[in-house]
Amino acid sequence: MSDATVIIAGAGQAGAQAAVSLRQEGFEGHIVLLGDEPGLPYQRPPLSKAYLMGKVEEPGLLLRAEKIYADQRVQLMPGERIESIDRAARTVRLASGQVLGYAHLVLALGAINRPLPAAGAGLDGVGYLRTLAEARDLRARLPNTKRAVVIGAGFIGLEFAAAARAQGIDVTVVEAAPRPMSRVLSEPMSRFLTARHEAQGVRILLNRTVSGLRGEQGRLSGVELDDGSVLEADLAVVGIGVLPNTALAQAAGLAVDNGIVVDENLLTADPAISAIGDCAAFPCAYSSQGLMRLESVQNAVDQARCVAARLAGKPAAFNAVPWFWSEQYDVRLQMAGITSRHDQAIVRGTPEENAWSVFCFRDGAFLGAESVNKTADHMAVRKLLAAGVALTPEQAADPSYDLKLAVAAIGK
Ligand code: APR
Repeated sequence: MSDATVIIAGAGQAGAQAAVSLRQEGFEGHIVLLGDEPGLPYQRPPLSKAYLMGKVEEPGLLLRAEKIYADQRVQLMPGERIESIDRAARTVRLASGQVLGYAHLVLALGAINRPLPAAGAGLDGVGYLRTLAEARDLRARLPNTKRAVVIGAGFIGLEFAAAARAQGIDVTVVEAAPRPMSRVLSEPMSRFLTARHEAQGVRILLNRTVSGLRGEQGRLSGVELDDGSVLEADLAVVGIGVLPNTALAQAAGLAVDNGIVVDENLLTADPAISAIGDCAAFPCAYSSQGLMRLESVQNAVDQARCVAARLAGKPAAFNAVPWFWSEQYDVRLQMAGITSRHDQAIVRGTPEENAWSVFCFRDGAFLGAESVNKTADHMAVRKLLAAGVALTPEQAADPSYDLKLAVAAIGK
């Protein structure tokens, strides 16, 4: 592989990291980093937080300065779409007609917005929030927005709600499930977040979906719900989840199962193709659910590093501890482990003081924790999970049990 070409398809967090990590790991070949968005690779997490609030500008979003790619001899090709992969010839064909050869192809294609299944989604005033272009559009609209309806109370919906509310906008959130962020959060944490939003004046409507968007002269005027009621709105933001970007892989005959299927080394069944980040379905060491797909910066970065090391001749199975975060008002939420299938949620600390954690277990086995303004708990949990320490429900429930001592005891 030493003088071969690695093409990295997708220049988001995972792709950009893979390019830089390949050099750091000592790979000497040619590196091409291409993606269909214009401009340099940027961070997505601030788009729904600091950027929307006007606290960071576009240059502050860049993952790395342009000079770093040049210094690391990474050939950046922004604004380029791959149209097809020829696995037999080991080439990719770009929309521009160009054909590029590879010795190894890293698919870091990310995700696409799950489209709102309702009429009127094309009206002016209906937006999504995943790319910089989408965030730029929403940010520009906020000063002229009086009433916003947010569809979906997940990461995107609730972060947008907090940012819009801080700018004095009237916000209603419409969520199909019985509680917010139910995909990832325990019930006590969902309840806590609901109360924080309501205390800020955000209305959260649960068990409701949108049946249609109403417009006047092409502009959004209201959001119609499944109970027939209509919410007046001059802006609607759709945050109902994302879908893995698998079309290219599928067309190339690679296995797809809610993501591009890879093994514990993040390799597809084709030894010349790996997949990483939001688009990859992998066997997660911290979950018993079979193949998993994770949407997080941590997963993108750690998977990129794992593949880069393998391509530089240092293979190792992927086993990084999953973690996630969100920020809403004065709530810094940090999650460690895969807790979605827990059957026991133990609260440590005091929610009233806005600093506490929920420790999650299944059949008595420790899965991970969610923490609000308790970074020490979050960091301890990450270390305990990585070391395979079997924290018990009794220990988690005991306020005198010292997590720091448990971490200090690792390896002793
Ligand atoms: N109407 C209302 N709510 C819906 C509908 C619908 N038709 N369909 C789904 N939902 C709700 C889900 O129940 C869920 O609570 O939308 C929410 C989507 O939440 P997430 O799955 O967290 O997705 P989203 O908020 O769009 O974030 C996508 O972006 O910030 C990143 O990595 C983060 O994984 C996250 C991704």
